Amino acid sequence: MQELALIHCRQLVTLAGPAGPRTGPAMREVAAIPDGAMLVREGRIVAVGTTDEIGDRIGPDTRVLDATGQVVLPGFVDAHTHPVFGGNRVDEYALRARGATYAEIASAGGGIRSTVAKTRALTEAQLLEIANARARAFLSFGTTTIEAKSGYGLGHEEEFKILRVIRSIGEETPLRVHPTYLGAHAFPLEQTRESYIEDIVERTLPLIASEGLAKWCDIFVEQNYYTPDEARRILGRAKSLGLGIRMHVDQLHNGGGAALSAELGAKTADHLEQTPISSFDDLTAGGVMPVLLPGSVFCLGLSHYPDGRGMVDAGLPVVIATDFNPGSSPTVSMPFILALACTQLEMTPEEALCAATINAAWSLDAAGDVGSLEPGKLADFTLWDLDDWREIPYWAASVRPSAVYVGGTWVA
Ligand code: NIG
Ligand code: FE
Repeated sequence: MQELALIHCRQLVTLAGPAGPRTGPAMREVAAIPDGAMLVREGRIVAVGTTDEIGDRIGPDTRVLDATGQVVLPGFVDAHTHPVFGGNRVDEYALRARGATYAEIASAGGGIRSTVAKTRALTEAQLLEIANARARAFLSFGTTTIEAKSGYGLGHEEEFKILRVIRSIGEETPLRVHPTYLGAHAFPLEQTRESYIEDIVERTLPLIASEGLAKWCDIFVEQNYYTPDEARRILGRAKSLGLGIRMHVDQLHNGGGAALSAELGAKTADHLEQTPISSFDDLTAGGVMPVLLPGSVFCLGLSHYPDGRGMVDAGLPVVIATDFNPGSSPTVSMPFILALACTQLEMTPEEALCAATINAAWSLDAAGDVGSLEPGKLADFTLWDLDDWREIPYWAASVRPSAVYVGGTWVA
């Protein structure tokens, strides 16, 4: 593969820094290089510096890309998405606009179960076609890596179908995909609660682990969904099979999610809208990374955002993500999530960018490859026709990159 040199970037925002998730003031160091340049070989970055520094290393056969007038960033890493589902829930959106709540709609037969029915009605090929289009949408907003959860199949076979679709997205599109099994998202109608959990633990999880179909296991701990004890059973089994743990906790009620995620050795605790400041120490002690999902608060028309500012100030390595799903957060746009982080979570643009790139990469155990522009990493980067990268959140969900590269190849 030909060598590529990117030169004259107005700002090359590298996020370079010490190894390990960033906390505190380090979350505000984005390591931007004015008149930046980058050399790429075989899909990986070989050098980063100013155009003057890199200029001498450009050989006669190198393809040169002049980025004058563009700011360049690492591709976003979206560490929490639910991208494989049928249909949409626009009817529920309209009901909520008239005052119905997420919980009321779910108990009236809507919610996750309604998407499960629409998802089961599609063939694997149909689901893949829809999911591939969504992958293109993620790329068009500058996201080059996602974590992708199953969870709209429930039932053994149906969850496998979705996990195979998730694997295929990563094979058929340039998006890099990290798969998560979320069978414990809700309960299927055709099985008792006990038999479904028994199935997950004895049948589904062992097969997923042996086939390598998921790297992580997740669960929705919430009133009317899974209890802390059920989480102990399911995630305990997942862990013993070698899967990493991510958890939906404290979204609608404080269910002690911080302490529970620490107890279970989770890599991430996601949502945390209702987590009190007094529980932040549990996350720190357990080495659990908070993944904040302000899109789900916004799209549900709620106002109680997670305490991003408090978590950064408490020294937690905060991550932000879209939570893309048909019920609570129908958006694939990380620029929108950055805007919400700055306006609703009181995070600075620097903290928000760190949370959306390098910290997100650490949360997926993928920081050796993605999340920053440093020698040795994959050449996943985006170009933006802006004067200052902070305009990405500033132009409130109305900018997209002018170009997206994955592994040094133009993809969008
Ligand atoms: O992260 N909270 C659980 N799962 C999703 C919502 C799923 C749905 O409503 O379809 C979430 O917000
Ligand atoms: Fe979610």
